[in-house]
Order: sequence, then structure tokens, then C-alpha cells
Amino acid sequence: THRHKGDLLVMNAAQVVTLAGPARARTGGEMRELGIVGGGAMLVRDGRIAAVGMLAEMEPQTEHPEIVDAGGRIVTPGFVDAHTHLVFAGNRADEFEKRCAGMTYRQIAAEGGGICSTVRRTRAASEAELAASAERYARWFLAGGTTTVEAKSGYGLTVEDELKILRVIRRVGETTPLRCVPTFLGAHEIPEEYAGQADEYVRLVIEEMLPRVAEEKLAEYCDIFCETGVFTLGQARRVLTAAKRHALGLRMHADQFTAFGASDLAAELGAATCDHLEQSGEQSIEALKRAGVQPVLLPASVYAIGSQKYPAARAMIEAGLAVVLATDFNPGSSPTPSMRIVMSLACTQMKMTPAEALTAATINAAHSLGRGHEIGSLEAGKTADFAIHEAEDYRELPYFFGAGGCAVFAAGVRVAES
Ligand code: NIG
Ligand code: FE
Repeated sequence: THRHKGDLLVMNAAQVVTLAGPARARTGGEMRELGIVGGGAMLVRDGRIAAVGMLAEMEPQTEHPEIVDAGGRIVTPGFVDAHTHLVFAGNRADEFEKRCAGMTYRQIAAEGGGICSTVRRTRAASEAELAASAERYARWFLAGGTTTVEAKSGYGLTVEDELKILRVIRRVGETTPLRCVPTFLGAHEIPEEYAGQADEYVRLVIEEMLPRVAEEKLAEYCDIFCETGVFTLGQARRVLTAAKRHALGLRMHADQFTAFGASDLAAELGAATCDHLEQSGEQSIEALKRAGVQPVLLPASVYAIGSQKYPAARAMIEAGLAVVLATDFNPGSSPTPSMRIVMSLACTQMKMTPAEALTAATINAAHSLGRGHEIGSLEAGKTADFAIHEAEDYRELPYFFGAGGCAVFAAGVRVAES
């Protein structure tokens, strides 16, 4: 045998934080069990994890695996970011400045800024231009230790522009080492040309967009922004029911600014996730629990719009929900690709423990994307997507926020260094 790309022996780790455990998302006290191997090692063969444990117990199964000396640093699974808006043109630094001067996110949106301003620019951009910016963001994600993202469309809002964005997502997954799970979010906003005719736009989404998205296999999930002044529960029910008929999984933007029962709908339709949930109360939590819907919490979007109201993560964990953390990376409410900053906010603002935050950022996120068997933990048989962080203990990941470098591997190949 000779050495393949993706044959590695990682040794001298202060901790191999495996996240090993049951083959499902983790709830309650399980979220604190990280399966740490102190002083551990990991053997990778052909891009897959062959063994995790102590070096002395490890019988190398390839002749000359490349040695990766972790040098007393920690090894974790690559972060899985289960909610991003990766593809958009331009940015909204101008609106950021207005918010710093006191305007609110929703005031800016009401004046034609917000999502609609990014839609105008994204429509005008070519596929190649969008791919170039998304590839640049993909490198930011990788450099921060993220190896998989869910990526939504939603800044096109015409048949052709939504398909264009979904093709860019597919392309970024091919041209960069970042794994991309595509979600169709045609119902992200009511486009300006449909003002006052939301039902007409919903018909376009259901009758023209969804069939094309499904036929061209451009998405695995369908999402909708359920919010006062955007889409109603009735419209969400129609879009998501149609998506289900096309065999798409379901995700929802729910209870971000106003709560009006979106989580009940998610539960009723068997959605994979319900995301945001800043305004969700006990009833919503019970609905999600009843149906096994995973909450995806996005504290960086709360922080970045200058709000104080974070989702009730503790109540959700205590109720037995398999909580997920994600960046919500987008040009408006959450311009950060950093899962470490998200974990920091989860700990300081929502009182999650560092262990719960890491579980929510890896294995629980992987399960929310239907990839829990493949990624999200360091266990024999899984794809070797991992990061070696400049830290001696996993708690330093949220503690030293905005700091710290890492070396990142996808399928056993080094893909980024920061
Ligand atoms: O998840 N809530 C709607 N969508 C995004 C924001 C998109 C934008 O501002 O461009 C979110 O926060
Ligand atoms: Fe979002």
C-alpha cells in the first residue's frame, strides 16, 4: 500500500473532542457529554476516520500515514453551520452605519432597504460574480473551522434569479472544500413588484419555482420567512405543503420579531428545524418538542441588530429539545461567519455551557441537515472533517472570542489555516 491523499495520523492532541454518542441528535444532559479523549490521537484512512483513541492502542492500518502533530492543541469536528444566506451581491455596511446612528433593522427594511436592497443587487449580478463573492465567504468559513454550511437562496425572488443562486451554491460546494447543503428560500420576502399581492407571489413560488428547483435537484430543503408584514401562517402552510410534495425537507424562519404560531405549523408539518425563535414562549417550545423539531438559534443576528432579546435556550434544553447553533450569515442581520463568536454569545447571553454550545455547533447541527451519520463527530467511519484549534481545552473556543487560529481538514485533506 502507498499513502493516499487523506491518510493521516493526528497525534499529540491535548484533547480529541469526539462528540461520540448515540446516532441521533443530543438532548438534555447528553448535550454536555463530549466524549473527550485526553492526550488522544486519530487515524484517518482515505479521508475517513479509521480510529480515535490513545496512540499506543492504535495499530496504523496504512503503511506511512502523514503525521500531523497537534502539538498540544485540541482536535474537534469541523463546525456545521446549519443556517446561512451565503450567496448575495454587495453588502449593507451603509445600513449598518444607519443602525449605529439609531435606526432599527425594521425601519430600514420598511424604507426599501433591508432584504429588498440586496435583492436588487443580486438580481443585477451574474452567476460568475455571485460565485466569486460566495467563494470568498466560503474561505472565511473554512478559516474559522467550519467545514459544512447550509446555504439558502432568497435574494433573487424571480424564477431565474432563485435558480441562479441555487446553482451558485452547488458550484461553491464543488469549487471549494466547504460542503454546502442547499435550501430554497424563494419565500424570503415579498419582492417590490408584488407589493400588495403576496398571494400572487406565493403562487409563483409554488407553481413556477418549486417544480423547477425539484426537477433540477437544486435544493434539499425549503424555508420561508414567517413574519408580520412578510408571509402569513396560511401562506407558509401552502408553500411548505407544496415543498413536501416535492420531497423537500422543511425549515422555517419563525418567531424572530413576532410570534404567531409558526412553531405549531412546523410541528404539524414535521419540519426538520424552526429557526430564530427569539420571541418563542412555552407553547412554542412544547410544540417543537411534541414533533421532534430542532430549534436553530442565531444569537449573532440578535447581537448584530442591537436587540437584547435572545431565544430561551435554557428552557429549550430543559424541555428536551436538540438545540442547534448557527451564524445566520447574511448581509443584513448577521454579517459573521464565525461559529466561535456564535458559541460565545450562546454562553454569555443565553447561558448555554461551553459543552452544550459545541454540541449544538457540530453533531446536533449535522443531524438537523440529515447528515448525522456522515459528519459532526469524530467517530470511526465518518468523513474526516476536523479542526486543530490553538487551544488546550475546548472551553477556550467560546471563551477567547474573536481570537484563535486553527488548521482545518476536509476529508483528511488540509484545506485552511488561520
Ligand atoms: O435570517 N429574517 C430574515 N432573513 C434574514 C435576514 C436577511 C437580511 O437582512 O438580508 C435573517 O435574519
Ligand atoms: Fe436567516
